[in-house]
Amino acid sequence: MGHVSQFDLGQIIATYGTTVFLETGTYQGSSLRHAAQFGFHRLISIEADPDLAARVAGDFRDDPRVAIHVGDSLQWLPKVLDALSDVYSLCCWLDAHYPAGPAVTELPLLQELGLLAAYPGFRASVILIDDRRIYENDAYTSGGLPGGYAQGDGRALIDFEDRIAPSHVVERSTIGEGTIAFYPRHA
Ligand SMILES: C[S@@+](CC[C@H](N)C(=O)[O-])C[C@H]1O[C@@H](n2cnc3c(N)ncnc32)[C@H](O)[C@@H]1O
Repeated sequence: MGHVSQFDLGQIIATYGTTVFLETGTYQGSSLRHAAQFGFHRLISIEADPDLAARVAGDFRDDPRVAIHVGDSLQWLPKVLDALSDVYSLCCWLDAHYPAGPAVTELPLLQELGLLAAYPGFRASVILIDDRRIYENDAYTSGGLPGGYAQGDGRALIDFEDRIAPSHVVERSTIGEGTIAFYPRHA
């Protein structure tokens, strides 16, 4: 499992004027705790598992910048993005995937990206994607996918990249389980 500390969040805030951290897949809140040390005005995380979400929400009860939403990222993202329509730049950490309960989308990434691409602040937003090995074959330092996990549709991710290529620079990493980052071309 990757961690958002692989990226320089202070530099992202300074370079792109980013004020909001938006995560899909809270899990135990480790990346959220890391992000909360930086100067984001708001931090929003969406988690399908109600027990995990409640535990992490408790950890952040004294931090009014943090909101945790319980449920499927695809249900929450349209509402969350609508409420952020006046925000210039988001830093998104897209990390929602297995294990998911029966009532949630198993691999919501491509649909999350579709929703983000329609967001008014998309061109100035940074998109960080964890666990690239789920979506693309490569020589990852921590190896391939564990048995039983299906490979996602890597072609679809490249299609997305082709469509948004003019607005963002794309960086792929093979460290750990791999990441893919989209940085705005015009800071
Ligand atoms: C790899 S963990 C997230 C780790 C966390 N982002 C971090 O960096 O510390 C993936 C989390 O996504 C959640 N999840 C899976 N599918 C989801 C979905 N469709 N919507 C919201 N959360 C989902 C899982 O319950 C799990 O807690």
